[in-house]
Amino acid sequence: MKKITIAIDGFSSTGKSTVAKQLAKALGYVYVDSGAMYRAVTLFAMQHQMISKDHFDVKRLVSALDTLKITFKYNDTLGFAEVYLNGINVENDIRTLEVSQSVSQVAEISEVRRMLVLQQQRMGEEKGVVMDGRDIGTVVFPDAELKVFMIASAETRAKRRHNELLERNEKVSFDDVLKNVESRDMIDSSRKDSPLLKAENAIEIDNSNLSLTTQFEKLYALAQNAIEHN
Ligand code: DC
Repeated sequence: MKKITIAIDGFSSTGKSTVAKQLAKALGYVYVDSGAMYRAVTLFAMQHQMISKDHFDVKRLVSALDTLKITFKYNDTLGFAEVYLNGINVENDIRTLEVSQSVSQVAEISEVRRMLVLQQQRMGEEKGVVMDGRDIGTVVFPDAELKVFMIASAETRAKRRHNELLERNEKVSFDDVLKNVESRDMIDSSRKDSPLLKAENAIEIDNSNLSLTTQFEKLYALAQNAIEHN
């Protein structure tokens, strides 16, 4: 059967990755979490003291970009690909609130975006890919056969994110998580380079009140339809 490219964009913590992973599995496609790549660059910047709460040495980060290698390796037990930074598994380290608090600033840097977008386009060269992020349907794969834009209220998203962090034993307050979600929404949608935008031909899904099963069923039906008609 003909393989297509599926782009899933939306605000932070809309639950894109959970449903995108399921969809990729059901279709036998590769799943790529593009946000994980921006998070890995942010972790690298933090590890090298290039970024902290009140300081960001953009020049130093940009000049170090060619020393930075981001790869994905499929984990059979987990059922998805984990992200590696220069050969080290950083799947857990990139999900902390600390990384979340700096990642939007790193994602504003055009040099960072150019490097990651090229890598993402290479990963999707052979199609059969489900990629989630902010600019997948607009910049990375403008010709994707299926584009979905996921939305949910900030409170719903902060609740989901807060639960995830608590499950991982990160002691953070709901208010801090909500503040982070709202400030990332603002930075992600107002940045100059590739702001978060709904592609013209994207299908919007508000999942505030949808169960995971319903979201998956909706997406799966959309994917089947796109595969049949392409
Ligand atoms: O999906 P996420 O929350 O893990 O993404 C982390 C950050 O990375 C998000 O705040 C914005 C940025 N990002 C981006 O600018 N472009 C993408 N394609 C994916 C993520």
